[in-house]
Amino acid sequence: MRLVTKIGGSLFKDDLNHQKISAHAQVLREIRRQGHQIVVVAGGGEIARKYIESARSLGASEAECDQMGIYVTRLNARLLISALNDDAFPEVPETVEELRKYFAMGKIVAMGGLTPAHSTDAVAAIVAESVNADLFVKTIDAPGVCTEDPKKHPGAKKLDEISVGKLLEMLQKKSLVAGAYELIDPVAVRVIERSKIPTWIVPGDDPANIRRALDGENVGTKVVP
Ligand code: UTP
Repeated sequence: MRLVTKIGGSLFKDDLNHQKISAHAQVLREIRRQGHQIVVVAGGGEIARKYIESARSLGASEAECDQMGIYVTRLNARLLISALNDDAFPEVPETVEELRKYFAMGKIVAMGGLTPAHSTDAVAAIVAESVNADLFVKTIDAPGVCTEDPKKHPGAKKLDEISVGKLLEMLQKKSLVAGAYELIDPVAVRVIERSKIPTWIVPGDDPANIRRALDGENVGTKVVP
């Protein structure tokens, strides 16, 4: 199978916990060794948001702030490459063309952002489209897609399944400024919709959830395109 996974920025907190990064890499290595092809897209997390806030305070335009976020996601991808070692292609693609070339080499390709005005979720969905992925798995800092934000509403219920239409409805009021994408970037959802990409949004606290989604287990939320 061809798997594209977006590792949420929550893995890349201030402390850059190497054990957690290594645990994610270990799961990806095992999946690769079973014959699957993988692209992993790293999010920006807290560190990207700090750079973006600082750049904005210094008078940078939103596009420059986005670019700042892109640099951080690419650095995060390099951390994944270090953790994946021989299983990873050693370079981070900066365009879809580069991605396709590197992907053809057979190793895990780790990457970050591409261009301003969207998130790494959108990048991962575009990548899934480009490599004709069988599965797109996005990890988040929550049990899955919930009826409400579980951080603000403890009674929020996790949904086992959601249609792209309903998901887009939920996202309608979200902001698109640099560093502010929450649950999932609507651009990603539209790409999932147009190419009917089988998608799972799973809790990122246990990297084994990526493998569970690949195995068709009931984990997180299935997005029905
Ligand atoms: P992320 O998309 O990772 O945002 O990139 P995030 O909020 O940290 O998302 P999670 O937590 O990983 O899910 C950080 C910022 O980099 C810019 C955007 O400003 C984004 O908010 N970016 C990233 C782009 O402009 N283009 C890209 O292709 C990727």
